[in-house]
Amino acid sequence: MKKTILAIETSCDETGIALVQAEGGFSNPKFKVIKNLVSSQIKIHRPFGGVVPGLAKREHLKNLPLLLKKLQANNYKLLSTIDLIAVTVGPGLEPALWTGITFAQELAKKNKKPLIGVNHLEGHLYSFLLTQKTVSSKFKVQSFPPEADPPLAEKLLFPAITLSVSGGHTVLLLMKNLKTWKRLGETKDDAAGEAFDKVARMLNLPYPGGPEIERTAKKGNPKAIAFPRPMLNQKNYDFSFSGLKTSVFYYLRDKGYSHSGIANSKKLNPIPYTLVADISASFQQAVIDVLIAKTMRAAGEYGARSIILCGGVAANKALRKKLKVECDMSHLTFHVPHMEYNNDNAAMIAAAAYMSLSRKKKYKLEANGDLNI
Ligand code: KG4
Ligand code: ZN
Repeated sequence: MKKTILAIETSCDETGIALVQAEGGFSNPKFKVIKNLVSSQIKIHRPFGGVVPGLAKREHLKNLPLLLKKLQANNYKLLSTIDLIAVTVGPGLEPALWTGITFAQELAKKNKKPLIGVNHLEGHLYSFLLTQKTVSSKFKVQSFPPEADPPLAEKLLFPAITLSVSGGHTVLLLMKNLKTWKRLGETKDDAAGEAFDKVARMLNLPYPGGPEIERTAKKGNPKAIAFPRPMLNQKNYDFSFSGLKTSVFYYLRDKGYSHSGIANSKKLNPIPYTLVADISASFQQAVIDVLIAKTMRAAGEYGARSIILCGGVAANKALRKKLKVECDMSHLTFHVPHMEYNNDNAAMIAAAAYMSLSRKKKYKLEANGDLNI
């Protein structure tokens, strides 16, 4: 089953449109990303320290036609060459999701193409399959190169444990194969990325906090402050990051620095840089320790043969590195998306759309902010 898919992603603060060729079905899915366009709204939301839903909606409405035009370049026949359109229906911010859904519906109607809804979390889940870098800026639909790789299933080695960590979700899955999985546990409060963002705010670092904390942590000592490792010793596979975030708050307060909210001004950060670096490093280490301990314990309990890491927080190099080392020590294969596919993008939505087709899974074409995996 070979398909050329145009995918649209507007669940949060990135507007994404991608063109992806897929083939191989479930046994050996292969994706060629022809174009992966992302328009980030970070600068718009930064002054507010987080995503403002109304602004996100306004920006998606503005960006979608611009990105489509860019995708088409001067190839006005492009839309006639695609097989289907895919759009994220949830989870995410509903006003933002609706902009993508409505845009996709109009596009599908105008061009007489089928339209399917995609679960954003399945997008992250399958994003590690997007191994190829974007291949071309021209939009001729090409044939695939001769097949040399072994079938994916052989490389993947099931069962697998998937750790999906983003701004909205933290979930651990046991995957029997590419289409069957079970949720082992998830966060009881804040998602890992959300905790990064909130702690960054306390440290007067700009939004989004994850990359900023990672950068600052490089200058700090991860052992400087013994922040708690929430739920580390509990036998379940759930997570909790709210208490850890509160510990950072109390630590700062006891040092005489309460949140001063200057993250977006040009004023000097009142917290000394060495302290910001030590807190960043120690906080990041606490998050990584919990994520990795639970993932590896699940791998042991369920006899996993590989680990998959995905979601925006999977961009964190310290986490990637540490999990790779753990996998090597335990003789597990480690799969993680290329850097360009960790954060929200439409190429991963195309991949999930193709997998949905293969497993005959259908989502309603309406925004569902709370959709789970
Ligand atoms: O997957 P994503 O783009 O959007 C959601 O679906 O939520 O994830 C965004 C989250 C944000 O919370 C951001 O701070 C976090 O991923 N993030 C990181 C890093 N890059 C992005 N967290 C830690 N380290 C990073 N390098
Ligand atoms: Zn996401």
